[in-house]
Amino acid sequence: MQLNHTIAFVTGGASGLGNATAARLARYGAKVILVDLADHGEQAALDIGVNAVFARCDVTSEDQINAALDLAEARFGRVNAVVNCAGVAIARRTLSKRGAHDLASFQKVLAVNVAGTFNVIRLAAARMAINEPNEGKERGVIVNTASVAAYDGQVGQAAYAASKGAIVSMTLPIARDLAGLGIRVCTIAPGVFATPMLAGLPEQARQTLEAMVPFPSRLGDPDEYGHMVQHIIENAMLNGETIRLDGALRMPPR
Ligand SMILES: NC(=O)c1ccc[n+]([C@@H]2O[C@H](COP(=O)([O-])OP(=O)(O)OC[C@H]3O[C@@H](n4cnc5c(N)ncnc54)[C@H](O)[C@@H]3O)[C@@H](O)[C@H]2O)c1
Repeated sequence: MQLNHTIAFVTGGASGLGNATAARLARYGAKVILVDLADHGEQAALDIGVNAVFARCDVTSEDQINAALDLAEARFGRVNAVVNCAGVAIARRTLSKRGAHDLASFQKVLAVNVAGTFNVIRLAAARMAINEPNEGKERGVIVNTASVAAYDGQVGQAAYAASKGAIVSMTLPIARDLAGLGIRVCTIAPGVFATPMLAGLPEQARQTLEAMVPFPSRLGDPDEYGHMVQHIIENAMLNGETIRLDGALRMPPR
């Protein structure tokens, strides 16, 4: 799919990987809908320009996502790409001095990262299904965000790793479900990227993280994530796969 024919619904679009992706896609000709809980999404859309609009909503809400899809269709005619970047992370051990991992925070991470991602996919797919296919018979592309934690979860990452593992696992069955409609589904599993999620880290911790990455030994630039999304949108043979984007990083236990 060409970017100048792409209307992308980007969750987590107010910050980090989602924001960098929305900005990049818009720079190369796409229209973008920034979908986020955070109020500064309004300013983020203004910063991108006339090809961006903000929809404040929670990815776990059916009504709010449908309203955001309505807004996107009213503004840009249709939606033919989804980039799921909204997500939350916690660090908590299964058992610690504070006692057993609380169930509520485990369920919250699963609710946002897994159910939220699936909620957006299912509702957007229903809209894409009625799109006029392009010359390659494509009606849409969906890109999800997992993490290397899906494979190498560290100490304290039971909830986060479980949520990202679920995103990896549902990629192929959803791609199979939607193949007959000409809708592709891929997932990116990032290593460590310089976003607000990591901004709070002390300099020493940042340097330690960078040193763990074999090459290039640095944090990823969020625009490099956006570049991968761009490639998935443009390359029609990519489907049903999870791509690690991590400079060969394999996370150690801690
Ligand atoms: N930064 C990294 O190194 C890294 C590595 C691996 C995976 N990831 C994943 O990439 C994604 C983006 O991470 P980031 O680093 O850009 O984080 P970020 O915190 O900068 O951005 C996440 C955005 O998601 C939004 N959000 C959270 N819950 C939401 C909800 N229920 N509904 C709507 N919006 C919601 C937040 O408001 C925020 O704007 C996440 O899924 C994260 O797990 C990030």
